[in-house]
Amino acid sequence: MKLTIIGTGYVGLVTGTCFAEVGHQVVCVDRDQQKVDLLLAGGMPIYEPGLDEMVARNVAAGRLSFTSSTREGVEKSDVIFIAVPTPPLPDGSVDLSFIELVAREIAGAMTSYKIIVDKSTVPVNTGERVAETIKRYCKAKVEFDVASNPEFLREGFAVEDLMRPDRVVVGVRSPRPVAAMKEIYAPFNAPIIVTDINSAELIKHAANSFLALKISYINAISILCEATGANVQEVANGMGMDIRIGRRFLDASLGFGGSCFPKDLSAFIKISEQLGYDFRLLKEVQTINANQMDRFVKKINDTMWVLKGKRIGVLGLAFKQNTDDVRMSPAIDLCHRLLHEGAILRVHDPKAMEKAKPILQGVTYVDDMNDVAEGCDALVIATEWPQFKQLDLEKTRKCLTHPILFDGRNLFDVKEMEELGFIYKSIGR
Ligand code: UDX
Repeated sequence: MKLTIIGTGYVGLVTGTCFAEVGHQVVCVDRDQQKVDLLLAGGMPIYEPGLDEMVARNVAAGRLSFTSSTREGVEKSDVIFIAVPTPPLPDGSVDLSFIELVAREIAGAMTSYKIIVDKSTVPVNTGERVAETIKRYCKAKVEFDVASNPEFLREGFAVEDLMRPDRVVVGVRSPRPVAAMKEIYAPFNAPIIVTDINSAELIKHAANSFLALKISYINAISILCEATGANVQEVANGMGMDIRIGRRFLDASLGFGGSCFPKDLSAFIKISEQLGYDFRLLKEVQTINANQMDRFVKKINDTMWVLKGKRIGVLGLAFKQNTDDVRMSPAIDLCHRLLHEGAILRVHDPKAMEKAKPILQGVTYVDDMNDVAEGCDALVIATEWPQFKQLDLEKTRKCLTHPILFDGRNLFDVKEMEELGFIYKSIGR
């Protein structure tokens, strides 16, 4: 099918590329001409495993193209996906101005029937608003349908998640666009849930908030584990074997971050408030998450007493593994707190150092993870990159003036670390 994706951020670029990969004819539109030029020249605005080869392959096959013209995108396709940012406003609610602008642009360019599909995470009722806007601004007065098709991809696993989704959610107002949506997703062999637009929009916020709740739950359990000498990983394993609970997203940590969970939680709390419900459960999820970072910093303070002038190595800057994304990264937050206390930092991340540099200054960026500990008083692990498990622990221990390791991601075994001579402090163990 002929598809257009408006917005080439994480969601838009990966979605467009995966649609092309399964044989659709895809136009990706972005108003940022620099980004379009970069993509046209074979460059990549984001790091996502497997994405660069997939983009190159589909561009070469003539199935994937890039433009900054919405009009061109609308003219060339039957189905237009909106995948533009929906950033938070200062009060936690969602800024829908990009969605509204794109809806107007699409309306202005439409000369025949189109299906307009929202992929961005939006508050319940946005689909209705998009439909009203298109109707109002479409001079050609052609017929159209709107649909909601929320995206559940995880950064760092985006290609994998898109090519093999657990489920595809499609919200519609009438049966007319269903066949086209099913045809688009047929090659992905995933269950397709067809529902109304409001339910589809709610599914996205409800699912993300539930996952965040799961992390805060295990983080709260980690506090009880620390108070009793129990091990949070053992508890998570035992809980997770109940298939009603599941083991995934039960990894205690210094807190969740990223461009989705914190924003979506605030938005969902605000949406609920506007609908007359005080979602206190989710407010507590936020509180536990904020406390988790406070507790980790306190652990560092309690062990090292004075941080002023201490040299600390930090492994990890991205908000999680497999990504160069540092937006709302707990690791960056941690670095800022340590700097604020007067610590001197040596930092490393396998992919995120370039993106960190503008927002994290006054630190030494180190290319090799095994050199970070050099001359440091302690080492901190802040991101769950799997390669950190391959750290040369013998060398690290010798490099450190004191063999102290704070692990905010529970990457190592407590006993083994102690046997190796480390003072090893992790989460809930
Ligand atoms: C999330 C959702 O998983 C995805 O479905 C949605 O489309 C977008 O938001 P993402 O933000 O890319 O994806 O990352 P995710 O893997 O969910 O991790 C979010 C944060 O939670 C990270 O900071 C991660 O380190 C943290 N996390 C995750 C934990 O602390 N413990 C866990 O067990 C899992």
